[in-house]
Amino acid sequence: MINEKDYEYRVTAAGRVNIIGEHIDYCGGKVFPAALSLKNTVYIRPNGTNKINLSWTTLPDKVSLETDKLESYKGLKYGNYQAGSALMRQRAGGKISGCDMLQDCTVPFGSGLSSSAAIEVSTIAALAAIEGEKIDPVKTALLAQQAEREYAGVNCGIMDQYASACGKKNHAMLLDCKTLECSYIPLDLGEYSLIIINCNKPHNLVESKYNERRAETDSALEILRDIAGITCLADLSVKQFERCASMLHNKVRYRVKHVVEECERVKLAREAMEKGDIAALGDLLNESHTSLRYLYEVTGKELDALASAAQSHPACAGSRMTGGGFGGCTISIVKTEAAEDFKKYVCRRYEKEIGYKAVCYDAEIADGITVEKL
Ligand code: GLA
Repeated sequence: MINEKDYEYRVTAAGRVNIIGEHIDYCGGKVFPAALSLKNTVYIRPNGTNKINLSWTTLPDKVSLETDKLESYKGLKYGNYQAGSALMRQRAGGKISGCDMLQDCTVPFGSGLSSSAAIEVSTIAALAAIEGEKIDPVKTALLAQQAEREYAGVNCGIMDQYASACGKKNHAMLLDCKTLECSYIPLDLGEYSLIIINCNKPHNLVESKYNERRAETDSALEILRDIAGITCLADLSVKQFERCASMLHNKVRYRVKHVVEECERVKLAREAMEKGDIAALGDLLNESHTSLRYLYEVTGKELDALASAAQSHPACAGSRMTGGGFGGCTISIVKTEAAEDFKKYVCRRYEKEIGYKAVCYDAEIADGITVEKL
């Protein structure tokens, strides 16, 4: 039981789903995420000490962080994200007061729905709230990204933290990761719904594989920067790619092909969404999954089994993995009237093929950061 009266603020930040535009945020591409009602909530009150005392609604652990030793908690099993987030705020000149924080996370860990971004963003916003500051969602997202990179060691792009901080109820966000310009597009799928299913693959070295992909695209940029006159890979057009593809080694060439074509798919997805052309949007999702499977190699047999089971259901317009990959979730666009049948069918087929159960989530498209005085 949470006794809200014991705390001064309730601050939330969202998990996210990415509709399309995968593994291109760190290449300066445009991505198309939306914030979810699955979120991290921080209940916070100042405690007049030099300690941040952490507790969780879902864990028996209690962790104390000394505010002048925040760099020393990287090895913690629980509390490292909060320590990294507080440290980045401190380094940026933000005040860190001792406080008690109760964390309540409904974003499943390791689901690819950005539980870590939700924790980082809500922690930074909560620390600002007790100082009486007005929260700046974009700055908060940037600090949270820095925590993920420099503290948690995942060299991520900005998509997750931005969506977590700046999401808007019932809207997808078309985020330009080069300029951080963002337009909100009503997420109206007519008679279709978005269905999120977790393949439940146990976590395995996701971070190192993620960083490896990122290094591959960085190496491609070094080769192409001057020749193609680009500052990020997302600037490379399909035509330019075809002209210089032979300069790249096989694997790196496939990675770049994915990036270039995924950027195109995002443009087309926006048009399809605005026209209400769900069939076209669904096809783009399917193509994105195929590209992530064969060119970017970030899916794995579990996500492939889940996506192909989904794609084979007659009420499904399209399905793909969402997030970093190697495990986690798919999203599918499915006729609302057939949603229950779809879920049963996909989960049955998945379990038969993989040997354990997938799990479906009920989530809405929700706001990013919220702050309430209690
Ligand atoms: C993870 C990262 C994001 C993004 C996605 C893939 O979620 O945190 O920055 O790169 O993977 O699109």
